[in-house]
Amino acid sequence: MSVSVDLKGSGISFKLLKEFEVEIKKAHQKLFDKTGEGSDFLGWVDWPIRYDKQEFERIISASEKIRQKSQVFLVVGIGGSYLGSKAALEAIKGNFHNQMNKDTPDIFFVGNNISSRYLKDILEIIKDKEICVNVISKSGTTTEPAVAFRIIKKMMEEKYGREESARRIFATTDKSKGALLELAKKENYETFVIGDDIGGRFSVITPVGLLPMSVAGIDIREFMHGAASGYEKYKTPNIDINPCFKYVAFRNIMYSKGKKIEILANYEPSLSNFSEWWKQLFGESEGKDHKGIYPSSVNFTSDLHSMGQYIQDGERHIFETVIRIAGHNPEIIMPEDENNLDGLNYLSGKSLADINEKALEGTFLAHVEGGVPNCIISVETLDSYTLGNLMYFFMVSCGTSGYLLGVNPFNQPGVETYKENMFALLGKPGYEELQKKLLS
Ligand code: PA5
Repeated sequence: MSVSVDLKGSGISFKLLKEFEVEIKKAHQKLFDKTGEGSDFLGWVDWPIRYDKQEFERIISASEKIRQKSQVFLVVGIGGSYLGSKAALEAIKGNFHNQMNKDTPDIFFVGNNISSRYLKDILEIIKDKEICVNVISKSGTTTEPAVAFRIIKKMMEEKYGREESARRIFATTDKSKGALLELAKKENYETFVIGDDIGGRFSVITPVGLLPMSVAGIDIREFMHGAASGYEKYKTPNIDINPCFKYVAFRNIMYSKGKKIEILANYEPSLSNFSEWWKQLFGESEGKDHKGIYPSSVNFTSDLHSMGQYIQDGERHIFETVIRIAGHNPEIIMPEDENNLDGLNYLSGKSLADINEKALEGTFLAHVEGGVPNCIISVETLDSYTLGNLMYFFMVSCGTSGYLLGVNPFNQPGVETYKENMFALLGKPGYEELQKKLLS
């Protein structure tokens, strides 16, 4: 039921893998002993087995309430405060979740950009609908969600009045500090907590990810069981048992050979936001001190018709990690056609899933031959349990990889620079000096 890692397309010998195991063990131990840099942000490591069970039940009750009361659920958040739940929603409920016939609300993600076009369009779509809102910000001060939430709060209060609006707004934030917590207390919003020791991009297993998932009808008990079984398996410091070790070895051996771009490939469009979550996880964790693999992604087979040429034939500074869903796809069978004008009768009777699998195999062989080392990460199916397990697999791999690289995977100092410039240019009090410098 867990993740498996196949390195037969990596070109890595068993001997080299074993050589790396020693260093990976040290990095992995820092993670599980909580002794590495940034160890005050390692609360997520054993969270799958020690999460707050009472709060978990409250998440389920709140999501039932939200489902009864609303046709639309707005999730306000950016970065780690929305990417995980968006990825899970799409992976489990599919690309057309909002358009499907269902007994759960449509879900829209706002506050993850500052585009007026984006927000205006969503406000237009939902204007006659019953709405509930989940505003998510660990710091409680991030500009993008705070800006969107001010607009949404006003819209909700005009629509429902202050009291009913407060019953429809749920805040997920820090336990003891931040502007959002203060506001939530003042307005009497039901609140959920992101632990002090869990950073945004590792928070999908907390109320940050769980409340939106539960509203969407995803089985969050199973999701957490998947993460908990991941905890048991991925804490084992042994490359023969722990697939995280193989993945970490693969990407770091590639990096040491000058291959600095990792492409995460999928063959299921419902994984495209999973890749966005993965990119943030690795990009923000590893890209430090002028080091780090650049995480990028492609959706196959679509992108074989856009990026396929480069991957096959462009500069050889890339390597590829493929997510393969082994089975349990909905079955569509290619029909026989009497005239066979499209020449496709050789596919008659085959399922689309089989054809997709052959596309994966064919692409794998082509890319390996073209000099792109490949790693295939397989899961049996994509359900709530497996998704919890897979996300936890990547979180452990990411923390271990970051330590192996010699960076603190749990901070993000580089994100501040754009914010300070933006604040200065917008005239935020306290940024006068920087404003003068930027405008000179
Ligand atoms: O991983 C991180 O810590 C970041 O991506 C944050 O999740 C993101 O910046 C949003 O922060 P906050 O939840 O404090 O609004």
